[in-house]
Amino acid sequence: MESYLNTAVDISREAGALLAQLFKRPQEIFYKRPSDLVTDADRRSEALIVERLKSYFPKHAIVGEEGGGAKTDSDYCWYVDPLDGTTNFAHGFPVFCVTLGLSYRGEVIAGVGYDPMREELYTAERGAGAYLNNKRIHASTISKLSESLVATGFPPFASDHEINIEYYLRFTQRTHGIRRAGSAALDLCSVAAGRFEGFWELKLNPWDKAAGTLMVTEAGGRVSDLKGGPFDLLANEVFASNGLVHEAMCEVFAEVKLGARSEARS
Ligand code: IPD
Ligand code: CA
Ligand code: CA
Repeated sequence: MESYLNTAVDISREAGALLAQLFKRPQEIFYKRPSDLVTDADRRSEALIVERLKSYFPKHAIVGEEGGGAKTDSDYCWYVDPLDGTTNFAHGFPVFCVTLGLSYRGEVIAGVGYDPMREELYTAERGAGAYLNNKRIHASTISKLSESLVATGFPPFASDHEINIEYYLRFTQRTHGIRRAGSAALDLCSVAAGRFEGFWELKLNPWDKAAGTLMVTEAGGRVSDLKGGPFDLLANEVFASNGLVHEAMCEVFAEVKLGARSEARS
């Protein structure tokens, strides 16, 4: 398994270097849907990653956000986000990463998140811990929600009725603060590194969260759905925390949801 991770690290560094180089030039923006941006950098990074993965692991399945990949009947599947934080990238806001997660029979076993702007490389293998630039990382030890810094994100096509706006408001009132930095994979890595106590999002794809969720559990944190139930990589929602504020955050989600329901009835 070590060779899977080492190869994923080399590929992520190469793709990250490409993104860093392209970041210096003005970006032409294309639209997948209104507000759902894609740039040449997303496409070039994915082409590079998929080509490398295919050459090292020709039998493995690959699912890439920009449609690249390989359908095989392998038990191994790579989830590839060639540029997580496209909107930031396109606007010149230097918060984005490359992230690769490898699953075996549906369970994530290795993951990488590489932030080329800060030269921060996050790595994790199932059962072997999580690392930032080769140093072991741990989720934070803060146990009070009122002393926590939390994070979330919104899909590019957020609707007027997005309940996450209500969660955002409530956590703003109950914590030290909330961040919406624009890269779900880096948000998850920040929970693993003890920078955030919690992170959730309601509509993510497997490539956004495969590596990051493994990072959190390997750093001693917890990953679930918003009710505290089992985490499902193929489901939309994800909630990750240091474990210590998990129940308190689940209570806030429940409370807000209940409020929204009774308001809808009245
Ligand atoms: C997006 C980012 C963002 C999150 C969005 C994702 P992309 O991914 O992770 O933080 O809030 O839901 O779609 O499009 O930049 O790869
Ligand atoms: Ca993404
Ligand atoms: Ca992306």
